[in-house]
Amino acid sequence: MGIIVNEQTAVFHLMGKHTSYLMDVHCGMLRHLYYGPRVYGEAAQMLVRDVRAGYMAELPEEDACPGASPDTLPQEYSGHENGDFRVSCVIPESADGDAVCRWRYDGFELLKEYPRPEGLPYVRADQTLAIRLREEKHGLTVTLYYAMLESCDVLLRHAVLSNNGQRPLELKAALSFCIDLPQSGWDVLSLHGRHAFERQIDRHPLSESTEIIASARGISSHQVNPVCALAEHGANETAGHVLGCTLVYSGNFALYLQPDSFGQLRLAGGIHPDTFGWTLRPGERFTTPQAVLTYSDKGLGGMSRSFADAYRARLISGADRCRPVVLNSWEAAYFDFDEARLLDMIDSAAGTGIDTFVLDDGWFGCRDRDDSSLGDWTPDPRKLPRGLAPLVRRCEEKGLQFGIWIEPEMISENSCLYRQHPDWAVRAPHHAPMRSRRQLILDLSRPEVIAYLKGVFDTLLADGGVRYVKWDMNRNIIENASLRWPKGEFAHRFMLGVYELAEYVVTSYPNVLIEGCCGGGGRFDAGMLYYFPQIWTSDNTDAEERTRIQYATSLFYPLGAMTAHVSVCPNHATHRTVSFESRAAVTWLCVTGYELDLCQLGEAERQQIPTQVEQYRRLEQTMLTGNCYRIADPFTGNMFCVQVVSRDCRYAYALVYQRLASQGLKIERLKLQGLREEAIYHVRYDGEEFEAHGASLMRVGVQCHWLREDFAARLMELNQISSADDTI
Ligand code: GLA
Repeated sequence: MGIIVNEQTAVFHLMGKHTSYLMDVHCGMLRHLYYGPRVYGEAAQMLVRDVRAGYMAELPEEDACPGASPDTLPQEYSGHENGDFRVSCVIPESADGDAVCRWRYDGFELLKEYPRPEGLPYVRADQTLAIRLREEKHGLTVTLYYAMLESCDVLLRHAVLSNNGQRPLELKAALSFCIDLPQSGWDVLSLHGRHAFERQIDRHPLSESTEIIASARGISSHQVNPVCALAEHGANETAGHVLGCTLVYSGNFALYLQPDSFGQLRLAGGIHPDTFGWTLRPGERFTTPQAVLTYSDKGLGGMSRSFADAYRARLISGADRCRPVVLNSWEAAYFDFDEARLLDMIDSAAGTGIDTFVLDDGWFGCRDRDDSSLGDWTPDPRKLPRGLAPLVRRCEEKGLQFGIWIEPEMISENSCLYRQHPDWAVRAPHHAPMRSRRQLILDLSRPEVIAYLKGVFDTLLADGGVRYVKWDMNRNIIENASLRWPKGEFAHRFMLGVYELAEYVVTSYPNVLIEGCCGGGGRFDAGMLYYFPQIWTSDNTDAEERTRIQYATSLFYPLGAMTAHVSVCPNHATHRTVSFESRAAVTWLCVTGYELDLCQLGEAERQQIPTQVEQYRRLEQTMLTGNCYRIADPFTGNMFCVQVVSRDCRYAYALVYQRLASQGLKIERLKLQGLREEAIYHVRYDGEEFEAHGASLMRVGVQCHWLREDFAARLMELNQISSADDTI
């Protein structure tokens, strides 16, 4: 296993436990050979043939490669204006208009450790293959970094472009990767949505046209998540070939799915070229974000578990650490509170099992609505005349931690910060900036703004009173311009600024837990997860809609990356009423919390909270570290069921949820997964207890009785009572 380089045949083989990724040098170019279940390396080189047809560009080395054309040659990192008319990974243009890029192989190196993409989040790895390609006339080189996380079959890639020539180059595109696959019967699956309706599943067969899964909103976005999967037709949760792809990036991105006319498919992606441009002067380099790929022949479930394992082990800090159970003030009070009301809220949380009180929006400047004060991160003297100290103190007295909301990337026009630094707001030179949620964006591409914000966090966190931060970002970025940088560089430089600030905060204050947020889940991506172990999944807290949002999110992200809160009913987003029990149970597939005014909650419900939190705490470690199996799909049926199995398979729980009660319900057998076949499990479900072999639970399935209420959730718990060896 590992990386095998055969210098004679120039074949590169990255091996995972179950997968192979193969490339070779062909006609002086780096050719993609194969990605899929494990194979023997060399054969692929003979089996992949050159294809030439009419009209195709001929390689200058025509004599050496009579059959090859860039038009069909499977690439690893495509050039530009080089006879390969598919998507270009890079477009380098000199001042006199030469944008040709004809990559030639230039050598390789094996590294002990995966080098961090400069200034960017990344999935860490050990042994790494670095392959160099060179564009001679421009003096441009690209180093392609590859690593395989063997145990979970996850492949990591990124590229570094260096200008070793004499002339500056304008990069008009600089993608992270490409891979040319045989286009054999793939469906494409992606996640789309909008605010409070994030990450709905879209799956359809690939057509002959190019598809672009992209965001140009300055954030990875509510609309489209920076992920996609190619699933063979018919591939389901447990079977079939699936290639998954994500970007470790939180800004504008594009993933291209481009069929060619010869039955091949180019999958390429990285920073969205539409809002990108970069001047690469002689001696400078540009680093792309990392792409993460995985291949599974165990269906979508296999893909998800590979991503989850890789992220928990190599991306997210403290992924397996127990998280606070918060009471958040937002849906409880919105902007309407003062010190007395907050102290009451803290008191009401004491003794319930909730261990952190989070003061959401409205605590700073002079903020009664969303139209002012962003940037003025000092307590509003009208609401909090004594500042935050009495709240922190009361939390301490009651055995709680104190947390706070902040939206560092924003500025309100009605703020002291704006009056002092109007030029810090993002704007194009000749147009007034457009507002969204009545606020403007702070230009985080500027070092002086980052320095100011580091100071804001220092003031907030240095005395140790705040132990939890909810870092929000509540709008899209509309103008792609900075008064500081050349055209095109703003969007990526903004992201580099966000990452620099996040890195500063998490390294300076390692004991503070930071939750990512972006108007709910508008920046739910692997990039943010590098800094923040959990992200507010959606502003939609309706349990019924959450089943689908959470189900789809779990396709590409670990359960512990999501947070979910129990809120009041009728739900503020959908006006739906779901029982208190179901609302809580649906959060137990994420990091749970509460977001309602406990003082106004009925006594019966209030009394349930300690039991609910206790129950969640029993599940938490399994949720954070175990294997997740999606058993019933709420997008296609009346049931939602997700099961989590501990790593040693001794314990499992499943959340079983029925959307609508009906006289026409069908018999459903929930076929569990991931258990030990021979082991006997004690099963507890909805007042019943029984014992069964893992094999029976997985093959016969559990026939759940019909529930006589809408939006009914039940917990199933399984404990292994005999070791697999004791049983036949
Ligand atoms: C966003 C967040 C909410 C809340 C509000 C406050 O919408 O997603 O949870 O913090 O901002 O303005």
